[in-house]
Amino acid sequence: MSLHKINPTTTKAWKKLIEQKDILSVETLNSLFTKESNRLNYLSIKWDCFDVDFSKNILNKKTFNILTELAKECKISDSIKMLFNGDEINETEGRSVLHTELRNFKTLNSSILEDREKIKSFSSKIIDGTIKGCTGKKFTDVVNIGIGGSDLGPKMTIEALKFYKNSLNVHFISNVDGDHNAEVLKNLNPETTFFIVVSKTFTTQETLTNANLAKKWIEKNLDTKKIQNHFCAISTNINAVKDFGINEDYIFKMYDFVGGRFSMWGSVGLSISISIGYDNFKKFLIGAEKMDKHFKESPIEKNIPICLALIKIWNNNFLGSHTHAIIPYTEYLNLLPSYLQQSMMESNGKNIDRSGNKINYSTGNIIWGGTGTNTQHAFFQLIHQGDKLIPCDFIGFKQSLHGNKDSHNKLMSNYVGQMQALMRGRDLKEVVSEMKSKKFDEETINKTANFKVFEGNKPTTSILIEKLNPESLGMLISMYEHIVFTKGIIWNIFSFDQWGVELGKVLASKLLTEIESSEIGNHDESTKSHLKKLKNTS
Ligand code: F6P
Repeated sequence: MSLHKINPTTTKAWKKLIEQKDILSVETLNSLFTKESNRLNYLSIKWDCFDVDFSKNILNKKTFNILTELAKECKISDSIKMLFNGDEINETEGRSVLHTELRNFKTLNSSILEDREKIKSFSSKIIDGTIKGCTGKKFTDVVNIGIGGSDLGPKMTIEALKFYKNSLNVHFISNVDGDHNAEVLKNLNPETTFFIVVSKTFTTQETLTNANLAKKWIEKNLDTKKIQNHFCAISTNINAVKDFGINEDYIFKMYDFVGGRFSMWGSVGLSISISIGYDNFKKFLIGAEKMDKHFKESPIEKNIPICLALIKIWNNNFLGSHTHAIIPYTEYLNLLPSYLQQSMMESNGKNIDRSGNKINYSTGNIIWGGTGTNTQHAFFQLIHQGDKLIPCDFIGFKQSLHGNKDSHNKLMSNYVGQMQALMRGRDLKEVVSEMKSKKFDEETINKTANFKVFEGNKPTTSILIEKLNPESLGMLISMYEHIVFTKGIIWNIFSFDQWGVELGKVLASKLLTEIESSEIGNHDESTKSHLKKLKNTS
């Protein structure tokens, strides 16, 4: 079965939501909280170790009900069934979308079960030193070479779970930037370094360039030249991997039915399993699987991914906020915003609908962010007093991992305080009375009071989780994956292809031949001038 092709703007709910926007234009978050004593009941969800509060978004009970009608009119339940059934919902590439199968512990797919066993045994042997380098030494460092989905997920997860890591250090090389490659390798010992080359296609320029540099580095530095002991690869393109010189036992599979940006739940997660051990990696999958079950089985109004997707659609399509900030209140999650950029922007950055027509409503948001409280001292000024409406996801944890209560209380008081400030704001009357109480003179008050006014009424969503561990991180990432899916369904786009990344790649490879030869082709003046300049330097 293929996904329904429903233009959301033709639904009854969409029209009602346009009316809601006008009705709500006279309200503020403060007035909504005053009027609705039961706001938290219907705009928050407690589930497992998650406490999700989306009540600080500018909507009321009626709006929320209409949003759930929108989800129904756009056939969200059918679509979820198609996703989990393995229907070919990635229509433009003729593929199923089954990353959820990689974390399904009831799966009957023997290949996935074999992969899990292989990840378990391989990572354990790297950790305990059974698998050694060609000079017989235990590995101390692992370098993941891959880009996009073959890099961002494992990199973010290993950073997020570094509290749980063992003595092995995992490094990442992604960009086709020889300087970065050299900077990573310069501190490593070739005898004790193991490379994981991750590429679904095994044709990606960046990854193959970096993998070849790593191969040369091993060959140059180790007399035995046995690169096989130092490399494994994860790919769908087994022949290309063998041609690269990788041992058959050291090849891990990827599947057509798993998109790169959803792939870390399978073999692409090998570096995660090496870093935190297979038992922890398994917990990470279990967490994601629990969220899958919640997404599949919960009613719309208590379904975390669906509700958060609906809120995001409300903010984007009706309140006109086209960017969305992700603010985790823990340094462990500092890579989450860039990971979610690929997950959300590569998936939903589309302007053609599922019928092949140009879309005339807003789709994929711009995703950005950083960790609180750092971001408070960087870009929060614009969120508080700028002219743009920027909804934020605040992600926090009730417990810290190292147990510094004093710091954690301060951190989390900022978490709550910022959301409260964004919602409440501070009007001129309040500013003036505060300044008077602090004995400012009349002239200073007149001169400066306006600048101290905060409009407030800025939407935030709080995702408060008991503790950061492999299981809760799995839940969080799976939650965002299902938000991406739900938004794509409602926006009537195909979330699982990424045709938009192709053109630049093709042009870059043509231009490379011109940079390296004496010929410059027929281009616009600006491109020609760039090529001329680069010929002299590269
Ligand atoms: O350029 C985008 C992309 O196709 C991503 O979707 C993918 O994760 C990345 O490139 C890397 O591709 P591969 O794993 O085939 O090297």
